[in-house]
Amino acid sequence: MRLYIDSANIEQIRHLNEYYPISGVTTNPSILVKEDRPFLELLKEIRAVIGEEKELFVQLVGDTAEEMVEEANFIMSELTGKLAVKIPVTEEGLKAIKLLSEEKIPVLATTIYTSFQALMAALAGAKYVAPYVNRIDNLTGNGVTVVSEIAQFFESYQLSTEILAASFKNVQQIHNVCLAGAETITASPDLIEKFIAFPATASDVKAFKEEWQKAYGIDLIHS
Ligand code: E4P
Repeated sequence: MRLYIDSANIEQIRHLNEYYPISGVTTNPSILVKEDRPFLELLKEIRAVIGEEKELFVQLVGDTAEEMVEEANFIMSELTGKLAVKIPVTEEGLKAIKLLSEEKIPVLATTIYTSFQALMAALAGAKYVAPYVNRIDNLTGNGVTVVSEIAQFFESYQLSTEILAASFKNVQQIHNVCLAGAETITASPDLIEKFIAFPATASDVKAFKEEWQKAYGIDLIHS
């Protein structure tokens, strides 16, 4: 399993990248716009924080496949390190996925609501598919079931495309997609921090420390 940060906030990325086992950063237009900065400068700063080896995802916004191919080549020429472009699974998007995959540019097929959108994207050559779990749930669908169906398709048809599950409102959804076969997930900083936040752990740690200090002094070295 690999974990990505779904944010473009430099301070949050810096913190999570230092403390958590992070494989990269995913962005989308809404996430970039929220930071209220020139997008290329921001993406370059994210790259500087995470280093060249971790994956950085940038979503394309062109209307036609040709525009998206041009945007993808622009992103590849402006940014360094391990990159992938995100392309929504529309008809034009599917064509762009085919063209870019032929050029060996890694593509994440995004805004996925159905298992068949994921299947088409995988057959077109996408490296990743991103089912939008919470947005599916919001439409009275079942995001976890969609992830599970995609996993079954990819296994049956021996497709190497990975599921990068996205759009979560709570840790329970993430827990369930991990069990349903998502190889990778992307989550907002506040949800990632909730993965290990458990009040009983904090109170156990406090009690251990107090007992230790009563018996031996400050810490393990300065007793
Ligand atoms: C990921 O890259 C997606 O764009 C993102 O997870 C969407 O999340 P949201 O539904 O919380 O906006």
